[in-house]
Amino acid sequence: MATADKEVETSGLTGWIDRRFPMTSTWKKHVSEYYAPKNFNFWYFFGSLALLVLVNQIVTGIFLTMNYKPDATLAFASVEYIMREVPWGWLIRYMHSTGASMFFVVVYLHMFRGLMYGSYRKPRELVWIFGCAIFLCLMAEAFFGYLLPWGQMSFWGAQVIVNLFSAIPFIGPDLSLWIRGDYVVSDVTLNRFFAFHVIAIPLVLIGLVVAHLVALHEVGSNNPDGIEIKAKKGPDGIPLDGIPFHPYYSVHDFMGVCVFLLIFAAIIFFAPEMGGYFLEANNFVPANPLQTPPEIAPVWYFTAFYAMLRATTDPFKIVLMIVIALLGLLALVKGRGKWRLGLPVLAVLVLIFMALTESKFWGVVVMGTAVVSLFFLPWLDRSPVKSIRYRPLFHKVFYAIFILAFLMLGFLGTRPPSPAATLIAQICALIYFAFFLGMPFWTPRGKFRTPPERVHYKPH
Ligand code: HEM
Repeated sequence: MATADKEVETSGLTGWIDRRFPMTSTWKKHVSEYYAPKNFNFWYFFGSLALLVLVNQIVTGIFLTMNYKPDATLAFASVEYIMREVPWGWLIRYMHSTGASMFFVVVYLHMFRGLMYGSYRKPRELVWIFGCAIFLCLMAEAFFGYLLPWGQMSFWGAQVIVNLFSAIPFIGPDLSLWIRGDYVVSDVTLNRFFAFHVIAIPLVLIGLVVAHLVALHEVGSNNPDGIEIKAKKGPDGIPLDGIPFHPYYSVHDFMGVCVFLLIFAAIIFFAPEMGGYFLEANNFVPANPLQTPPEIAPVWYFTAFYAMLRATTDPFKIVLMIVIALLGLLALVKGRGKWRLGLPVLAVLVLIFMALTESKFWGVVVMGTAVVSLFFLPWLDRSPVKSIRYRPLFHKVFYAIFILAFLMLGFLGTRPPSPAATLIAQICALIYFAFFLGMPFWTPRGKFRTPPERVHYKPH
């Protein structure tokens, strides 16, 4: 029989389709015969939950688009119309706005899992890189979407962020004008943000999610022990510590989905604004280009990066310059080969450029670098084991300090600035970067425990 895959022998309608389309073989390869490590724990719920939230955002987004008007004179009223007049419109809108925040909750936890278990290490570098690109897209998607209700925060948030681009030397002012399409955020800006939010970014996002999963299934999943289950296979070629994704993990993930939906529904029905963290009070006021709100703060998921931006004051720029000068000196003394001269020269060029440019621009650079650093994690971490479980205690302490610094930045970004808050944010930003920059030096050091031959698994 001429089937798409020699191993697949199906009959009836399934056979008819299989002879024309690799349905059964794809199902087997990626679901019923995808062998995942049997020791997945709580942290492995968030991948499937991210998929669920992605679908939720797309479906609710389609229904919102049916009644939303991307026009500066109508947008705010159209959202009110959805909330008050469209049958179940309030539910669809709250599912979408709560979904946006839950997307970030789920993705941050998903990334944290990757960090803990070294899931970005060889051979999963591309899984991680696609993930980081997804994270960037998600940020862009949330930013563009936030302008659409055309409330005070939508307008002024976009104004502040687009203005940041004008701090880029030489091209900045023209670039921000090009992004806005006008001298201020206006109807033109709303239209292009709408186009990006409903089609351009979602297309890229979906493509990246597919690439993320294809790359993962090519190399297989990591696990809390950080050991490769493919290294120990039975006579049938199946990893000894692997179990088929379906039905074992489909049932497992279904439980995660049920718990998640309970929490999701509770937020939608009882606290959709989440005390101003998910939907800000100022965004229930129509955009007024003539009245700046007293406090312009981004939504919680951006606040850690926003705090770094605000922390980059003139004195902090000088601290950064000292750090760069020291790193250049270190490369000169300790460096080998082409790095020995290349890095100090680069440091001098950066220092000259920094001296000539304003700190606002470096705030943007710091914020951007904070996200871009994530991409390099697979090559910065040189620890001989993947999982945090088998690393020395001081590694665990460093991870904990890094996470606390990030959370602190997130908290500070929601507060109005003060001299004390700025100082704490500066310290936390330095910790954040020291964690990444120092990785090649501290990750190979210390006393590691030998990971077990087979995964740890307690039946329950
Ligand atoms: C729309 C967003 C995302 C979706 C739908 C998604 C989906 C998934 C799924 C279904 C898995 C397999 C199940 C699991 O291991 O939990 C997975 C694994 C993974 N994801 Fe994502 N992901 C997303 C974003 C990200 C981001 C932002 C990162 C990191 C920057 C990331 C890094 C990883 C890694 C490293 C793995 C392999 C984990 C392991 O094998 O231990 N993902 N992802």
